[in-house]
Amino acid sequence: MYDFYSDTKTKPTMAMREAVLQAIVGDEQKDEDPTTLALCDRVAALLGKQAAIFLPSGTMCNEIAIRVHTRPGDEVICERSCHIIGFETGGPAAISGVMMHPIDGINGIFEPEQVLSAIRPNSRYMPETRLVCVEQTANMGGGAVWPLEKIRKIAAVAKDAGIATHMDGARLLNASVKSGVLAKEWADGFDSCWIDFSKGLGAPVGAVLAGSTEFIARAWRIKQQIGGAMRQSGILAAMCLYALDNHVERLADDHRLATSIAERIFASKGVEAVMPVETNIVIFDLSRDAPDANSIVDSMQGDGVLVGVFGERRIRIVTHLDVDPAAADALCASLMNHLS
Ligand SMILES: Cc1ncc(COP(=O)(O)O)c(C=O)c1O
Repeated sequence: MYDFYSDTKTKPTMAMREAVLQAIVGDEQKDEDPTTLALCDRVAALLGKQAAIFLPSGTMCNEIAIRVHTRPGDEVICERSCHIIGFETGGPAAISGVMMHPIDGINGIFEPEQVLSAIRPNSRYMPETRLVCVEQTANMGGGAVWPLEKIRKIAAVAKDAGIATHMDGARLLNASVKSGVLAKEWADGFDSCWIDFSKGLGAPVGAVLAGSTEFIARAWRIKQQIGGAMRQSGILAAMCLYALDNHVERLADDHRLATSIAERIFASKGVEAVMPVETNIVIFDLSRDAPDANSIVDSMQGDGVLVGVFGERRIRIVTHLDVDPAAADALCASLMNHLS
């Protein structure tokens, strides 16, 4: 199978698995796991924050951050297509008791002025706007990279209004590799930010959330409360450290492969539009005269190629460590075959 469904589908390489054998471990809940502590220090520095916390997943990073930044009844501003709204099973409502205030961006990216108009006036009738979240890169926006000036302006207008800011950095390192802008420069001005190890970085588990020392102390209490605290987590952290050492620069290969796939799809019949491709995600829409997305994806599966359905006529393809140019050729051949 050539699996282009998501960059979460990568399997740890042998070298990554071997890194575990050397890991010195201890009880994470007691801050006694040196490998996990080293990973947290490394990510805090990478993101320019005071401290960091190791968590099992990116979803838990988002949900804990929202819980720390808000109180029940508050409102959180996000882009409508973001992961927090669409793919976390209502976590902000269930875990933090907050309302989401979705704003419509273009390819997942919104304007500082939209934040300003979404902020609630001070009124006893209205929820209090407490947090603004951005997603870098914007997954449903086709892996779009935020312009640096815009993301900084978002942080600045929120700060001026006394509102906290959070960055879902599931693919922040893709943005960093693509733009040449350091991760800490992207995260500058945001109160919390995290990166995921189980996406393009190729580790099986793990994400690290960073922020101020006080924010991370509060995040630890929630992690403990919801059962996210671990024991000898260095076994996992060792693979994440390996990923930081070996799998960051190569994200450029994923971006090149995605661009080459998108160019071929763009030129093919039966395709109405391809979202601009900046990183490792290709999202395209089938034209009315083509079969629908479910039929195409089922047929491609028969050829041993997995891609994702993201709408009646919308398909998503993601490149990563475990797919290469030969796999991309197989994908394009299969797709063209079922489109013709
Ligand atoms: C933008 C974004 N945020 C958050 C997540 C959640 O990450 P995890 O799967 O590690 O919970 C994902 C997962 O695909 C994602 O794409």
